Amino acid sequence: MKTVIHLVLLSVFAFSSAWAAGGSGKAKVAEPKQTKLTLPMGNPVWGQEKADNERCIECHGTHGQGGQHPNSTEGKFAKLAGQYPSYILKQIREFRSGARKHDQMAIMARSVSDEDVIDIAAFFGSQKLMAGEGAGSELGKKLFDQGDATRGIPACASCHGANGKGLGLVPSAPIVGGQEWRYLDKQLRDWRSGDRRNSPDGVMNKVLSALTDKEIEALADHLAAQ
Ligand code: HEC
Ligand code: HEC
Repeated sequence: MKTVIHLVLLSVFAFSSAWAAGGSGKAKVAEPKQTKLTLPMGNPVWGQEKADNERCIECHGTHGQGGQHPNSTEGKFAKLAGQYPSYILKQIREFRSGARKHDQMAIMARSVSDEDVIDIAAFFGSQKLMAGEGAGSELGKKLFDQGDATRGIPACASCHGANGKGLGLVPSAPIVGGQEWRYLDKQLRDWRSGDRRNSPDGVMNKVLSALTDKEIEALADHLAAQ
């Protein structure tokens, strides 16, 4: 009996870790296709307190809206509001391990436990979905919606959802629509140069490799406006 319980616990753990790994492509076993992304299960109420204690809100905003002010469009800090908790957890683990490089965030990630991050991620994930403003870009919208078959660039929307608001499925690429312009511009350039390379199978490096500066700016204009 005891063994059975252990086995059940073990498989639940293995399943949720694969889930938390978010789209690594390794979660082949019983991958749920149409489930809302709800794991890891954190406590958003504790998460709010922890996000304050751990100073996350100093840079990411009291509700994850980025910058110091809820409506700031000036920030270079990522918005976390409404982001998938499993994506937030994956990023923190990778800042910690060095798989994703950023000095400030490496220090932050090493000072906080996974247990706390799961609650913090649940808090930010439960906040009103990030929203942007601005005029957008026709070129950016076309690339995002359709890609460019002549250069083998897939439609960004096929993974990130319409307007970058996510597919809402497991596993899913992060929400990028309504994110900070400067943050988006930096990430897209970092994917292209290879400074950031923590996407599953290097998919984002491949997708971005053929894009020009003008196209990257257009994509950032389009996404920041959603
Ligand atoms: C001193 C400012 C600062 C503090 C404090 C801080 N962050 Fe960050 N965070 C940043 C910056 C800057 C980035 C963007 C890193 C980059 O450019 O790659 C970032 C990026 C992130 C990302 C990646 C977002 C994405 O869309 O990929 C996550 C997740 C994150 N932070 C979570 C946290 C959490 C959780 C805490 C608290 C434990 C925290 N941060 C505290 C500055 C901060
Ligand atoms: C095959 C699926 C796929 C396609 C196509 C794709 N992405 Fe991604 N993208 C991902 C995944 C998965 C991640 C998360 C990587 C990680 O875990 O760090 C990501 C990450 C990102 C990020 C970083 C988000 C953050 O918060 O830091 C941006 C920005 C982004 N993608 C924009 C784009 C754009 C623009 C395109 C089209 C030119 C595109 N993506 C096409 C799967 C995809």
